[in-house]
Amino acid sequence: MLIAQLTDLHIGAGRRLAYRKVDTAGALENAVDHVMAMDPRPDVVLFTGDIGDLGNQQEYGLVAEILTKLTLPYFMVPGNHDRRAPLRTAFPDATPVKDGAAFVNYVVDDYPLRLIALDTLDEGKPGGVLGADQLDWLRGVLSDGDDRPCLIFMHHPPIVTGIAHMDAQNLGEGADELAAIVAQHRDRIRAIICGHVHRPIHTIWAGVPLMIGPSVAHQVAFDLRDDGPSAFVMEPPAMHLHVWDTPSQNLLTHLAYIDRYDGPHPFFGADGKLIV
Ligand SMILES: [Fe+2]
Ligand SMILES: [Fe+2]
Repeated sequence: MLIAQLTDLHIGAGRRLAYRKVDTAGALENAVDHVMAMDPRPDVVLFTGDIGDLGNQQEYGLVAEILTKLTLPYFMVPGNHDRRAPLRTAFPDATPVKDGAAFVNYVVDDYPLRLIALDTLDEGKPGGVLGADQLDWLRGVLSDGDDRPCLIFMHHPPIVTGIAHMDAQNLGEGADELAAIVAQHRDRIRAIICGHVHRPIHTIWAGVPLMIGPSVAHQVAFDLRDDGPSAFVMEPPAMHLHVWDTPSQNLLTHLAYIDRYDGPHPFFGADGKLIV
């Protein structure tokens, strides 16, 4: 089973450039072309949030238009740049929850590896939360009698990455409770995959591998200074490819660059101005 993780698309309405520099719509088109040209093709594509940039209908309309070429099953969780209602309206099949559901939490049971979507969005705020209802839902899923191995996908990572301006907006409330749940089921949870930080970052958390995927559009600059400014860098767009091998019950993750990226890779501040 091959899973492509595409994250942090940040599509602007009318193909608006992010930070006046980044052609995010073009980047998504490149990513879709890349995935569709793969041999073998992924079985499923997981979008781990920040599908839009402001989270409105116009943005999701453009995403839907671009994704008409993605003729593979795909699923989404919202990021902090998304809004649940317009996202669900635009992508009902990719956010399979009941009408009136408060969150975009669901389980995909079509594959040997169970895919658990966890919605960490706190609408209108950059940081993520998991409230009591969310945590109860996850406890219920992990105790529902289906003992297959599983993977959790969510937007906000519950870890400290060292990139201070991003750590200030990672998963806050609910992270400790999530760690306790994950640790209890660590034999079955084979990975937690996240987006949000726009860099490929890997660690072990609560006894399981936790991986943050790179953005398909632009990356956040690597900067471990406590006062490092918010800055992005045009390092190549990329994605994580997660390979699940059922006989060995092993999950293996590749970093794959998406074709057609420009270089060199200049650094920009959040205001779009060149730093170096
Ligand atoms: Fe993002
Ligand atoms: Fe985000």
